[in-house]
Amino acid sequence: MGVCIIFAVDVEGLNFNYDSGFKIQDISFKIEEKTITALTGNNGSGKTTLLRLLVGLLKPISGNVKIFDNFLSRNKQKLWEIRKSIGFLFQNPDDQLFAPTIEEDVSFGTRNLKIEEEEVKSRVDWALEAVGLLEFKNFSPFNLSWGQRKRAALAGLLAMKPKLLILDEPFANLDFKSIYNHLKILEKLRKDNEITIIFTTHNLFFVEHWAEKMLFLDAGKIIFEGSPTQGLGDVNVKKLLGSYNEILSLIK
Ligand SMILES: Nc1ncnc2c1ncn2[C@@H]1O[C@H](COP(=O)(O)OP(=O)(O)OP(=O)(O)O)[C@@H](O)[C@H]1O
Ligand SMILES: [Mg+2]
Repeated sequence: MGVCIIFAVDVEGLNFNYDSGFKIQDISFKIEEKTITALTGNNGSGKTTLLRLLVGLLKPISGNVKIFDNFLSRNKQKLWEIRKSIGFLFQNPDDQLFAPTIEEDVSFGTRNLKIEEEEVKSRVDWALEAVGLLEFKNFSPFNLSWGQRKRAALAGLLAMKPKLLILDEPFANLDFKSIYNHLKILEKLRKDNEITIIFTTHNLFFVEHWAEKMLFLDAGKIIFEGSPTQGLGDVNVKKLLGSYNEILSLIK
């Protein structure tokens, strides 16, 4: 009997254009369930655009996205069913938070799952506690710092208990304590609920030490797919990334 691999994400021949002229060009890749994948590449290489295509916030010109073997479609009912299994963290928390209080914001997605109100409340308190914001639950998102808003946005996804987390820059602009806290939660979720994670970052530390797979984007194309160790040593990737040594040569 052959081993049956389940893919959390299966992308085939994806193409997309913005009016500005930027293109996502013929992207194909598969992500096995219960793995961690880092999507990296320089500013403007198309990481956020690709993630938005994966969750159906943008519609491709051609190609397919399958999430746990279901085609993402524009059919509203089906898209909603698939979205329930995905937690998407926006790069900018201000695109994610809109309710008058943090508690309402964090409850929103979970309440839409049509589960018991008591369960909603307990999940929301758990998620707020996990990101260290329980004492801020009655605050308006406007009165939190940027990093706190990012943590509130993460709490909103965690409360929904999705099987697939798609995180756009989950560690950017966070202090070390918050990064530690976030990683602790994510690692616990991985252990207990066997979730799949895709994240974008410019921080190669997380690519090297946390991810099992690396995708590198340049001008809307994947120029590397494979292990982080190989990817970070790849000549083309290294050329695009630059280094601290290059920067140091300017100031020393
Ligand atoms: N809504 C939009 N309309 C038109 N062009 C856009 C839009 N959003 C992004 N772009 C363009 O698409 C390209 C890719 O942007 P994207 O945000 O996907 O990059 P990114 O890799 O996520 O960058 P960063 O590292 O800065 O987050 C950029 O050149 C950008 O100008
Ligand atoms: Mg981005």
